[in-house]
Amino acid sequence: MRTAPGLDSPPGPGGSDLERIDLNEVVLALSDALDLVGTQVVQHGKRVAFMAAACGRSLSLEEGERTDLLLAAVLHDCGVSTTRLHRKLLDADLSFEEAHGHADAGGDLLARFEPLSRVAAIVRLHHTPWDSPASREAGPRTALLANLVFLADRVDALLQSHRERDPLLETDEIRRWVFARSGTSFAEEAVGAFLEASAAEAFWLTLEPHHLERALRDEMRVERHRTVPLSGLTDLALLFARIVDGKSPFTASHSTAVARLATLLGHLAGLDEGTCTRLRIAGLLHDLGKLRVPDEVLEKTSPLDKGEFATIERHAFETFQILSRVEPLREIATWAGTHHEGLSGKGYPFRTRAEEIPLPARLLAIADVFQALAQNRPYRGPLEAEEILGHLRRFVESGKLDPHGVDLVAENLEECFRAATLDAVGDTGEDPAPG
Ligand SMILES: [Fe+2]
Ligand SMILES: [Fe+2]
Ligand SMILES: [Fe+2]
Repeated sequence: MRTAPGLDSPPGPGGSDLERIDLNEVVLALSDALDLVGTQVVQHGKRVAFMAAACGRSLSLEEGERTDLLLAAVLHDCGVSTTRLHRKLLDADLSFEEAHGHADAGGDLLARFEPLSRVAAIVRLHHTPWDSPASREAGPRTALLANLVFLADRVDALLQSHRERDPLLETDEIRRWVFARSGTSFAEEAVGAFLEASAAEAFWLTLEPHHLERALRDEMRVERHRTVPLSGLTDLALLFARIVDGKSPFTASHSTAVARLATLLGHLAGLDEGTCTRLRIAGLLHDLGKLRVPDEVLEKTSPLDKGEFATIERHAFETFQILSRVEPLREIATWAGTHHEGLSGKGYPFRTRAEEIPLPARLLAIADVFQALAQNRPYRGPLEAEEILGHLRRFVESGKLDPHGVDLVAENLEECFRAATLDAVGDTGEDPAPG
């Protein structure tokens, strides 16, 4: 087994807690990542979830239905990775044709993750008018829950179109707008529940950022908790990796391939199975914070200006913040959040020094650079294995990357290249069996 600083350090807090993890807790944290896509208009998913849940209370839904409604509402826009589409979706006059692509994409993503597959149908229908045949075909409960999400989603679009004004000045007009669509866009039952819930000023005031987070936490807490095992967490991380990778054609499969290569390097370095699994999760989630970077910046062909560079540099910090709010994920958060740190202490965002960077984080940083160099970028083409190794060696010399980790790459170059460039068909983030 290779030794490098950090390798012998005991597993951080959370290593053993990862046997099972609270699904609500993780979904709520990951919804922060979806929030970032709004760049300027953040917390859309959380506002929709709070409003839908408040309507659900008026309807006296059963506990299971309330949980499904909350999870579906928080995640309803998971099919949206690009800031361009997000801006469009908050248009109050959005047509069904424009909207249904992302609803289907979100439904497909959730359907692949068993613990959330129940809410996939709700997400698929969250822009479907109540009086359309598709709504009737879905069955009454799914259709009603989806319609509540649709209603809350449109109310938030209206609110955001006047966001410089006090929301209490908008409530009458919004309530009239919803009422006028009773029986057509929205179910009469949903409209009745909304009018009841939204009569109170507190309903609108809770939507403000400093109250919303707590209110939603309370909503999530009263539900009977579902937990997922560590293997389930890998699947959930894969779901979010696909959202991040969907942001731009240039980053397609980046997170899943980084996860695959990092795991391979973990095995080659002799890390145990549990550590390799956590490393895979860190790889899948390392660029979560990139959801906040406007598409135009990621796809720019000319050099970035200072402001654009600053926008990109935030992403590792955002990733750390999102993951570290879930206590059992703290170790993974540290590895993922330090993927742009360097051994010289000149990386970002923490300027962490060598002795504070554990081996899994060093391997992740190598995998990230390797995969990015193997991928097409707006300003250059993909590099070959030998060229990539040359760059990695230079990064070792400049004090960015770990020399032992890069030696491992050199000794297993072909295998590493394969792991980094397997196309999207094999995008499970699994490593090809190490040699
Ligand atoms: Fe939405
Ligand atoms: Fe990154
Ligand atoms: Fe990355």
